[in-house]
Order: sequence, then C-alpha cells, then structure tokens
Amino acid sequence: MSEGKTVVITGASDGIGAAAARRLHREGHRVVVVGRSPEKTAAVAGELGVESFVADFTRLDEVRKLAEDLNAAFSRIDVLANNAGGLFGPRTETADGFEKTFQVNYLAPFLLTQLLRDKLIASGAAVLQTASISARLAAKLELDDLNHDHDFAPVRVYNSTKLEIVLFTKELHRRYHAQGVSAAAFDPGGVATNFATGSSSRPMRILYTTPALRALLPGPDKGAKTLVWLVQGRPGSDWESGGLYLRRKPSRTNRQIEDADLARALWDRTEELLK
Ligand SMILES: NC(=O)c1ccc[n+]([C@@H]2O[C@H](COP(=O)([O-])OP(=O)(O)OC[C@H]3O[C@@H](n4cnc5c(N)ncnc54)[C@H](OP(=O)(O)O)[C@@H]3O)[C@@H](O)[C@H]2O)c1
Repeated sequence: MSEGKTVVITGASDGIGAAAARRLHREGHRVVVVGRSPEKTAAVAGELGVESFVADFTRLDEVRKLAEDLNAAFSRIDVLANNAGGLFGPRTETADGFEKTFQVNYLAPFLLTQLLRDKLIASGAAVLQTASISARLAAKLELDDLNHDHDFAPVRVYNSTKLEIVLFTKELHRRYHAQGVSAAAFDPGGVATNFATGSSSRPMRILYTTPALRALLPGPDKGAKTLVWLVQGRPGSDWESGGLYLRRKPSRTNRQIEDADLARALWDRTEELLK
C-alpha cells in the first residue's frame, strides 16, 4: 500500500470518479467525494464513510463555495482530480452566461484549481484531469469562440473542452511545477457510465444507452485505472508532469496540444472570462 494521500475527486458521485474513490479508499487514501447530486454524493460518501461536498458546476458561485469549504476543511490536498464532466446538449446557457459543456468541463475545474492553488502548492500536489482521446484526434480550439456562440454541436464542444483541459494541464505544469505542483491529463477510454446518456447527440446517446453496444464497453473500474495509477504514482518517476496518459502510458499528442503559445493564450483568456 502506498502512503495515504488526501485525494479530492470531483464527479465522484458516479461512474469513473466513484470507481476511483472506492479503489483509492480501499488502498488507504483519505478520499474526498465531490458530486453534483446531493443524494448520489451522500450515497457514495456514506458507503465509504468519507467526507463529501456538493457543487453544481453550472453555477460558479457553487464552485467558489466548494473551494472555500475545501480550503477550510483540509490542511493539505495531495491530489485534486478534476474528473466531473460530460457530453451534454442541446446548447444551454448557465446562470453565469456560459455554454454549459464549456463551463462544467473546463471553466469550473479551472476556477476550482485556481482557488485551491495556494493549498496545492503548499502540499506539493498533483492535479489530475480526466480528458479524452478526442482532445488529440478530433478537437479544434477557437480562442475567439470558446463559448461556442457561433458553432455548437454537442460532440464538437465536448472535444474542444477536453483539448482545453489538456492545454490547461500543460500550462499548469509550466507555471507551477517549479513551485511543487505536478499535473497530468488522461484518457479513461470508452467506459459504460452515465456519460452521454442525456445528450442531444443521437449517435453518442445510442452508443452509451443501447444494451448491446454498451456491453462492448468496459465498466467504470477499468476506466478508473489510469487515474488510480496516477494518484498512486510519483511524478518524475512513474509519470511526467505535463503529460497526457492513456492506459497508464504516455499518449501521443498533436501540434495543438504541444502549442505552448496557444496554452498560454487560453489561460489568459480564461482568466479574463472569470473576472
Ligand atoms: N465514459 C466515457 O466513455 C468517457 C470517455 C472519455 C472521458 N470521459 C470523462 O470521464 C469523466 C467522468 O465521466 P463518467 O464517464 O464517469 O460519467 P458519469 O457517470 O456521467 O459521471 C459524471 C460525473 O460528473 C458529475 N457532473 C456532471 N455534471 C456536473 C455538474 N454540472 N456539476 C458537477 N458535477 C457534475 C456527475 O455528478 P452527478 O452524478 O452527481 O450528477 C458525475 O459524478 C468526465 O469528465 C467525462 O468527460 C468519459
């Protein structure tokens, strides 16, 4: 068993996050369950006998309150796993005036990480982000239309947000690794969870809800494996900070992912949006 770490996991009320929480709890870590649904979050936390917090990422005031509560509750946070997210649609605007997928998958975890930054630095923490292979294969980033005001399709927006998460991971590494924070993004693979089940993308909804197709996908335990491995591992020896991982191995990247100017511009633009 590795040394117990304080591990905050968002999206831990279901799917990959809940599977990772169960496994890491069994391995002796102090797991903190963060979810959106109060009932589901309480069920997972109750099962494990651990602390939990609820925040709906479509509301940035709830993300700010979550950060405040986490900062108050824990003297250190060794791992922040930004895992909450999904494929949504049709286009919906949040109370904060942002497109929902963009806010839940990218803006909210960016804000949460920023608000926990001092604690993460003081703890020499790892920030682990659930991305997707689509960040490499299919995503395009339009800095002038981050909110997808002009170009909305559920899958396109989802892919962009996962590319944004990978660029955020790389820029977090560039800005804060020297101060002790490590960061990695990973692709959990296609996993049979609630993912895409409420989306207006018909092909994705069919893939994730049709029993015969769903049966082809592995379960959440398998999807959680890379996250569990990153939590247990040591940056610098088991994995490299700034990296993108797939099945516990470095994933190939592409020109956009390696574009440091783009990552810096995205960070700056995101800070502007959150002012
Ligand atoms: N499943 C796949 O094939 C796949 C592939 C690539 C990447 N991923 C990524 O894996 C991550 C976990 O997804 P999953 O597959 O485990 O799906 P899931 O079973 O639907 O779980 C999603 C989690 O995110 C939370 N969440 C959703 N909307 C939220 C909101 N507005 N505010 C706060 N939390 C919210 C959910 O909370 P509640 O349950 O409390 O609503 C749940 O805990 C996501 O980032 C997803 O993009 C999944």
